[in-house]
Amino acid sequence: MILLDGKATAEAIKKEIASQVEKIVASGGRRPHLAAIIVGEDGASKTYVASKEYACEQVGFDSTVYRLPTETSEEELLNLISRLNIDQSVDGFIVQMPLPDSINEQNVIAAVDPRKDVDGFHPINVGKLSLGLPTFVSATPYGIMALLENYNIETRGKHCVVLGRSNIVGRPIANLLSQKGDPGDCTVTICHSRTKDIAEYTRSADIIIAALGVPQFLKGNMVKEGAVVVDVGITRIPADNEKGYRIVGDVAFDEVAPKCSHITPVPGGVGPMTIISLLRNTLQAYLMSR
Ligand code: GUN
Repeated sequence: MILLDGKATAEAIKKEIASQVEKIVASGGRRPHLAAIIVGEDGASKTYVASKEYACEQVGFDSTVYRLPTETSEEELLNLISRLNIDQSVDGFIVQMPLPDSINEQNVIAAVDPRKDVDGFHPINVGKLSLGLPTFVSATPYGIMALLENYNIETRGKHCVVLGRSNIVGRPIANLLSQKGDPGDCTVTICHSRTKDIAEYTRSADIIIAALGVPQFLKGNMVKEGAVVVDVGITRIPADNEKGYRIVGDVAFDEVAPKCSHITPVPGGVGPMTIISLLRNTLQAYLMSR
């Protein structure tokens, strides 16, 4: 069994980005600039935004975080988005999800200029992705594709089962893996909460992408020998440690790993790849705007 080491893979990409930034700065260019908006006090969201901020610092990007109170109205948020859309010092920005219930997520996503939508959430960018056109690929699917590529995982003609149909992970990764290319050319099945007998599908899968958000959902008896398993889950469960929680994936790692040819750990698998992919998109936005 080989661990798909997202941390090491992301580090290597981080070095490449940092050296590209140094070249840009040395030739008189300004640094790429990522902005992030976070509304409210969701603990996990705060941690993710802090990680994104730190990653920017590591590669030499400028970053700005707008921390808005839970009571922020949709109008106030849309006003800030309009400002960032026209701010020429900002190359790309994200609005951290989830948003408070009083704010309509789709209105917010649609308000972001697609050229600055480094999350790849805007309907124009989602549409381009589904047509196989160049665009910002949302960070988690982009990171998974890069990880599979880095480990030369054969995807052509393989049966890939995606667990979860979210707009952020399940749908786009199913799209990318079924597209022509390498990685790609998979036969893809999407399973979700209404699928009857999920194990019947997962047992026939060469590749499983687990992105349901149900801790340790995928058990050893649901996986065939030699499968490649990618665990996207990052549920926080209470723990008796300094943080008061630990992160648990969607895969029962101890049971599943011995059967796999390759598997991602949690943490240290998809998570670091997601963050590095956001940086890649930001650099792309910067280069496109010049
Ligand atoms: N919430 C969970 N994942 C993401 C992400 O990739 N981008 C944003 N903006 N919010 C998220």
